[in-house]
Amino acid sequence: MTIFRDRNGRPILPLGLQTHNSSTGVPEMLEREIAAVKHYGGNLLEAPVYWYRIEKEPGCYDYADADDLIRRCRMHGLHLILLWFGVNKNGHPNYAPEWVKTHPEIYAVAQGRDGGRVASMSPLCDATLEADSRAFAAFMAHLRQVDGEERTVIAVQVENEIGLANTDMDYRVEAQEIYRQPVPEKLRNIVLEDSGVTPWGDTWRSRFGRHAHEAFMAWAHAEFVEKMALAGKAEYDLPLMINVMLGEQGFEEAGLCYNSGAAVGRVLDIYKAAAPHIDLICPDMYVPDRLRYRRVCGRYARPDNPLFIPESPIGGVANALNMMEAFADYGCIGMACFGAGRAVDMQGNLLDESREMALSMRTVANLAPLILKYRGTGRIHALVQQEFMDKQYLRLDGYHVEAKFISATGSARWGMGSFLNPAAPENADIFTARGRALLIQTDAHEFYLAGCGVKVDFRRRPDPMAEDSFPLLASRQCGTLNFLSVEEGHFEGEEWVCDRVRNGDESNFELFSHRGQAVRIRLNPN
Ligand code: DGJ
Repeated sequence: MTIFRDRNGRPILPLGLQTHNSSTGVPEMLEREIAAVKHYGGNLLEAPVYWYRIEKEPGCYDYADADDLIRRCRMHGLHLILLWFGVNKNGHPNYAPEWVKTHPEIYAVAQGRDGGRVASMSPLCDATLEADSRAFAAFMAHLRQVDGEERTVIAVQVENEIGLANTDMDYRVEAQEIYRQPVPEKLRNIVLEDSGVTPWGDTWRSRFGRHAHEAFMAWAHAEFVEKMALAGKAEYDLPLMINVMLGEQGFEEAGLCYNSGAAVGRVLDIYKAAAPHIDLICPDMYVPDRLRYRRVCGRYARPDNPLFIPESPIGGVANALNMMEAFADYGCIGMACFGAGRAVDMQGNLLDESREMALSMRTVANLAPLILKYRGTGRIHALVQQEFMDKQYLRLDGYHVEAKFISATGSARWGMGSFLNPAAPENADIFTARGRALLIQTDAHEFYLAGCGVKVDFRRRPDPMAEDSFPLLASRQCGTLNFLSVEEGHFEGEEWVCDRVRNGDESNFELFSHRGQAVRIRLNPN
């Protein structure tokens, strides 16, 4: 499913960074954050706009912040995803106008079980929905007017990590009345895991068991963003998304581990049924360990919800490794890291702690046209040096591939060491980098590799029906040395441009990619 397109309707792979929460309207901050996107090889900036600045007085709108962001991104050749910080930012109404915040008798604040107000506004309040969606619709109309042609803005996020903080549901009398009504028809086929019931009847309890409160709040929030989406899309039909504070946090109890009603894995079906005009439900992926990372990817990457990761750590090794698997194994359609300003110093130079992530993002960016073409086909493979790994085997169509991680297995004397100057500062980690790469098979005998710390060896894989495969297998003909060409290069649009040909010492000992560079390998079929 293609969600992100440029102004000419061509599919794009958005990769980049999100600004900090308070950067919008602060030019020097934004310029540093844009500089950071460039270091990451990105093409995308994500930045919030604040309802309280857009509509200081009811019905009086000021779009200067959005206009400024659009202008800057255009100037720097970046795509932009605008984040509508409205009534719910991580379960708080921080970004709502004061005329909303100061009138809880009109714009209802949710109540906890003890009757006290919690931090969050209730999604079950018509006045709040009406005010937020009216402002959002006006904002979308403005976007169409100023950007409908250029299409710098490729998508808009509705609210931010929605959910109710500090309670499992809204215990206001008005909310409880709605809870006592029958479960909406469109949710009747949904069964929640670990709910302890075989669904029956039409009460929330009988259908969703011990997760009834969470299911109810998920439906309430989904309805809220669906109505926002309908109002917005009526003005300007852009892709709309919501981002999610993850539920996969251990024991997974709503209101304790995460805000209740958030679109966590458990209630995704409720969201999909109740909010069909939200195009993407996106996990904010602050998950270092691989197993949990893959579990989250597996839950959100669905035929009706391609995986887009709008937030992830800006530095560190874990995200730099895991993201390879998001693109290879889960058809990830784009990704951003959070907190662009933190990646660079005051002069806009990349900080050391950001290097790993920047390198991984550049790796993916360098293969973007192929990722767009081959995602979901099984031809994109992640090579990732997990702890203690020295090599990784891939069984591919027609080839055994052995990826060797250089930090564990070393590099041939005449391989990388002769080709790259190990003394140059940018090559400081050529022998020590934690290996990760993408390998894409584009034809029976053609591969593209990008990454670092990995070298690959190919051996023809005999046809399973072959009578006597050993002589061929053992022959020189069958191995990596039997290549036609090895080229370093880059893509211009969909065209491969060769920058340098490797041969002799520079290709005969190891086929590697360093610093995320793309390498095209054509093996000899004969
Ligand atoms: C997730 C939120 O969505 C972001 O806006 C930001 O607050 C980050 N957390 C901070 O780590």
